[in-house]
Amino acid sequence: MIEAPKGTHDVLPEESARREALEGQLRRVLGSAGYRRIDTPIFEATELFARGVGESSDIVQKEMYTFSDAGGRSLTLRPEGTASVCRAYIEHGMHKLAGPQKFFYLGPFFRAETPQRGRQRQFSQIGAEVIGADSPETDAELILLLAELLEAVGVHGTRLRIGSLGTPELRAVYRAELREYLRVHEAELPAEVRARIDLNPMRAFDSAAAAAVMAGAPRLLDRLGPEDAEHFHTVCGLLDGAGLTYEIDPTLVRGLDYYTRTLFEFTSDALGAQSGVGGGGRYDGLIEALGGQPTPGAGWAAGVERILLAAEAPAPTAPAPDLFVVPVPVGAPAPAPPAPAASPRAVAFSLTGAARHAGLSAQLELSGRSVKAALKHADRLGARYVALIGEEVALKEMESGQQRTLAGAEDVIPTILRGHRL
Ligand code: HAM
Repeated sequence: MIEAPKGTHDVLPEESARREALEGQLRRVLGSAGYRRIDTPIFEATELFARGVGESSDIVQKEMYTFSDAGGRSLTLRPEGTASVCRAYIEHGMHKLAGPQKFFYLGPFFRAETPQRGRQRQFSQIGAEVIGADSPETDAELILLLAELLEAVGVHGTRLRIGSLGTPELRAVYRAELREYLRVHEAELPAEVRARIDLNPMRAFDSAAAAAVMAGAPRLLDRLGPEDAEHFHTVCGLLDGAGLTYEIDPTLVRGLDYYTRTLFEFTSDALGAQSGVGGGGRYDGLIEALGGQPTPGAGWAAGVERILLAAEAPAPTAPAPDLFVVPVPVGAPAPAPPAPAASPRAVAFSLTGAARHAGLSAQLELSGRSVKAALKHADRLGARYVALIGEEVALKEMESGQQRTLAGAEDVIPTILRGHRL
């Protein structure tokens, strides 16, 4: 048997229905705030992520699915969406449009990680990006929209942590200070943190094994310049005003290099080790790093699989059909196809199509069940009416159990549409 590759999974109809419900809420929550959908390609030039996500990130260092096409170009299956949205913004000259531009997206993303519960190699994200606004209201609105969306889809009791990274210049000075601190404590640090002292010292805050050393480490949040501190405090004040609970986490780091100023993450205890439901932040230098004019940006993304794992909402049930149509064999079993035009099977087939054209949801008995078994099946589906098409045409209303013989198949749809009790 050929199985789906490790770290991928098939989305079967029941999960599909839950995803559609999530997508509906995404459209509702973000659409009503003026965000519009954007779709970018599944693969991009590798350089986009090297420059956008950052050479020192785990994603670029070891998690990208990169391949060469026939023309020798290096392409990568997108590991995240922000760099692509910024590329599209630049490529389509969207800076000429009235700002800010507000986008949302959903789709598959790819990271070569070790699969476990909530961590896949192909996963889906929903995301939002606002490009062209640096106001603290932008950050607060984004955070509130994600909080609202998570509640709306049944992910309750999340924990929200926020922090600020300041400007890249400040971060460079801070990094040097942190590197020095880490070198002094090098002997107490685990190997994977030691290996990253030069490349990405801030990731040391992510390591549980380095927690004791990091408790005494200098903190970026204490070193913010006045403008960044003011921006951060305004974001916090807006969240307070909206009644959203959060924790300020001076050690919050995220696995992408483009962040500036605000940084945030929602986690859920329902998820176990992979507790991050969604997160994001501001990326004021990214558009410029990708060759555009200096333009501020901020956004977030959340994992669809993780939302569905953490959501308490029950799976939506499949919609029940208005009509279930059953051909009743006349005398001998129906002749082999092609069936004569007026055979019960042919009449049942065209009645089902006509019912759909008339705006009813209709299903045809496709498996050749007996009338008794077909009625049982229609009941399981929750069908309102069953039409039995044989020598006679009968319509059964399932709830009342009433059945009436009609003059012909052409009477089935009008009778249902009139909505009379049988
Ligand atoms: P991220 O934190 O790397 O951020 O991913 C966002 C979310 O995607 C995570 O919180 C998690 O729910 C989900 N996720 C990530 N990796 C996996 C995986 N291997 N399996 C399942 N789910 C996963 C970003 O991607 C940024 N682009 C967010 C952003 C947008 N920042 C600003 N704008």
